Order: sequence, then C-alpha cells, then structure tokens
Amino acid sequence: MENRQQWSSRYGFILAAVGSAVGLGNIWRFPAVAYENGGGAFFLPYLFAILTAGIPILILEFTIGHKYRGSAPLSLFRFNKKAEWLGWWQLLIAFVICTYYAVIIAWAVKYTIYSFGTQWGSDPGSFLFGDVLQLAEKPGQVGGLVSGIVIPLLFVWAVTLFVLYRGVSKGIEKLNKIFIPTLVVMFLVIVVRALTLDGAVQGLNAFFKPNWDLILDGKVWIAAYGQIFFSLSIGFAIMLTYSSYLPKKSDINNNAFITAFANSGFELLAGIGVFAALGFMASQQGVAVEDVVSSGVGLAFVVFPSIINEFPGMNGFFGVLFFLSLVFAGMTSLISIVETFVAGIQEKFQVSRTKAVLSSGLTATVISLLFASKGGLYFLDVVDYFINNFGVVTAGLVEIILVAWVFKGLGGLQSHTNAISDLRIGAWWKICISVVTPLVLGYMMFDNIRQNLKENYEGYPTELILYAGVLVVAASVIGGILLSKKSWKSNVNNFEKREDA
Ligand code: ALA
Repeated sequence: MENRQQWSSRYGFILAAVGSAVGLGNIWRFPAVAYENGGGAFFLPYLFAILTAGIPILILEFTIGHKYRGSAPLSLFRFNKKAEWLGWWQLLIAFVICTYYAVIIAWAVKYTIYSFGTQWGSDPGSFLFGDVLQLAEKPGQVGGLVSGIVIPLLFVWAVTLFVLYRGVSKGIEKLNKIFIPTLVVMFLVIVVRALTLDGAVQGLNAFFKPNWDLILDGKVWIAAYGQIFFSLSIGFAIMLTYSSYLPKKSDINNNAFITAFANSGFELLAGIGVFAALGFMASQQGVAVEDVVSSGVGLAFVVFPSIINEFPGMNGFFGVLFFLSLVFAGMTSLISIVETFVAGIQEKFQVSRTKAVLSSGLTATVISLLFASKGGLYFLDVVDYFINNFGVVTAGLVEIILVAWVFKGLGGLQSHTNAISDLRIGAWWKICISVVTPLVLGYMMFDNIRQNLKENYEGYPTELILYAGVLVVAASVIGGILLSKKSWKSNVNNFEKREDA
C-alpha cells in the first residue's frame, strides 16, 4: 500500500486551496473582466456561475480527489478507466497556464523593486512596453529574450520548484501558511487606503453601474464562467490534486463553501480596491473613470503605477504592497498549478518527486521563456484568452457531462461526500451539474464560438490566433488522449479505498 503525502491539518488544506484560488485572476483579471462585461450587470452571470457551476464543481473535484486519492489522471482512471484522458487534458491545460502565469509574477517581482522610488517615472505606459517588456512591433514576432524579465522569471521558477520539492505539508502547506495571512493583511491595507482617497465613490459607481445591454450576450456569460473556473482553480486538475492529499476524515462540502466564499470575497475586495483607486486617479486628472480604466496587463502595470504616482504620500510603500500582493497571490497559485503535473508525472512514470519536479518544472521553465521574449505579451494575451475561454471552460463542461451522463457517477460521489461532511448536499447539486450548467454553458459556448469565428480576438493576425490559440487548445486535448494510451506501471488500484459510509 502506498504511503501518500497528506496535509497536516484542515486549516492547512483550506489555506492551500484558498491560496490556489486567490491569484492573479482575482487581482489582475477580475476587476477588468467585470468592468468590460457590464460592470454591475456582470454580477448576475457571475453569481449564477458561482452557485450553479463554481461551488458544485468544486465539491465534485474535492470528492473525486478525496475518494480516489491520486493526481487528476489517476483519480479519474480509478473513477472510470475511460475518464483518464480528461485528467491528462486538464493537466496539460494547467501546464500551458503555468508557462505564462510565471511570467506575470516575474513582472510583479520587477515592479515590487521599481516601487522603491517609483522608478517607472511619469509615463508608466512607455516604461512598461518600452523599457521593461521591450515590446516587439508586430504581434506574432518573437524578437529575442528580454534579460530583465528572464532573471526574475528564473527566480520565480526556482522558488516554485524548491517548494514543490519540499512536498505537500513541508513545502506547499508551509508556504501558504505564511503567504496567505500576509497577503490578506497587505491587501486590506491597500483597499482601506484606496477607499479613503478622494474620488473613490465615483470609481465604485463606475464599477457597479450595470450595463444591462450586455446581459444576453454569450460572451459575457462565458467571461463569467471563465472567470469563475480560472479563479476557483477548477477544470484544470488543481483541486482534484490538492484534495487527493486530504486525510480520510475531511468535511468536503464545508471546505468547498469556505474556499469559494473566501475566493469571491477576495475578488470583490480587489474590484472595490482597484476601482476606488481608479476613481481617485480620474478625479485627480479631472476625467471620467471610463477614461482611465484599462484591462489586464495595462490595469496592473500601467494604471496602477500612475495611481501610485498620484498618491498623497508613502507612494513607494503602497507600490510595494500592491506588487508584493500580486507576487504572493500569484506564487501560491502557480505552485498549485505546477503540482498538478508533478503529481501526474510522478505517478504515471513511477519516478521520485525530485525527478518529477525537475523534469517537468524545467520543461515548463524553458517554454515560459517564450513569454519573456520581446513579442511575449502578444503570445501571452492570445494564449491566456484561448486557454481560459476554450480550454478550461470546455474541460470543465466535458468533465461534468462525462461524470454525470456518460459514467453516471454523480450518485456515488454524492453519497461519498455526504457520508463525511457535516453539511449534506441535496438534489440541487445533481441538477446544477447534470442539467443547468451543461445547458447554460453549452449554449453560451456555442454563441461565443460563433462570435469568435466572425472576428479575430483583439483583431490579432489570424496566424497568431491559429498557433497560439487554436493549436494550443487542440494540442492539450490530443496530448491528453495520447498520454492516456500509455499504461500505468504499477498496480494502480492498490490504494486505501475510501468507501461511502
Ligand atoms: N486560481 C488562480 C487565479 O485566480 C489560478 O489566478
């Protein structure tokens, strides 16, 4: 019988799960996604997606991991031999995500240092795209490595791989126990400061003001599901892997609710903090909030430095707090993303943890260099958009359809989790997973694909969309199927069975 690593306490697991969930997605992605997709009106699809998909799928993944005690491919194989490919597909999606995710953390590391003395100067836009990223002229060009990014990137990878090498309780859990409470304190300080700045209320008004015209747009709903999946770390092997290290007695349902609420709470806090700060900047410049807001990269690395410049005092200090928050939030998530394939490789190829960390981690490091090239930002933008909207969301959709309809496994999983949880889940869980989410998500996905076929994302060249978008998404599915063809080396059914009662 194998001697599987475990979390040392329930608190440790919850911190690690929250640490995985709360990441760049919450601070870097959410405020802009919410704003672009209808502001206040976005909260309807967002809430709907949490309640009907986010929490039910989180419970589903926690249960599979806890019951079958393996990496995503192994747990799914034990669930049903024909489901293994789905585990590999999700794991490959995680692999793709980590390669650019690490690069954004590397930027945040640089900006933490730049915060001392607000070194980005009075024009943070030219500073980011010119001095820091040395952005290529045309999307699709690689244009050589940017050494200023490569160095912090290697640092990010070194820390990640070291923590993973230390293992589940001595590495991942320990790091989360330090990083997550620190992150919460740092972030609260920023939000409270932002809320007390002039103009904060205008910012919040802009954030919460609903634009109902967008509510029936499939793109908006996919954005909400995409945000929830990415933000809760579901649909790409993470929560399944983390829950496989749970001890036998674990209250799965409660843990899922805690993780989901902590994640959305943080996300909302980030939205409030970011928009309060935007309101402040708009009022300083005498313009509307709409004129200062920008999405994704621009928001964190251009608009925020501008805001910090205008802070009434302690500018450098708040800069450090903000960018260090990004680093902390990002690191705890990156570690969870990489753990998915460390665990998968270790089990499938029967190698030591050290070998798995080194082989897969170094491969990811090398690939991530692409995003540290002069054209890196364009690749990053396309890969991020496609792997989230078509990779993660599709893999989540396929997961629930397979589990509910093809392998008819919901009943067994429901009794498993109810037998060990205080809070019991009822018929609503099955209905959400087997009917509501497949119908809504399925339709919205169809609508979104139709729109994407009409025009290229961000007007990028078709070649770039094909290589960095479509091909990457397709390769993860095909790679998943191929990896599942290789047979397991050891007797994979030799594990401590966790029966339902
Ligand atoms: N859940 C992680 C995030 O939100 C991946 O960034």
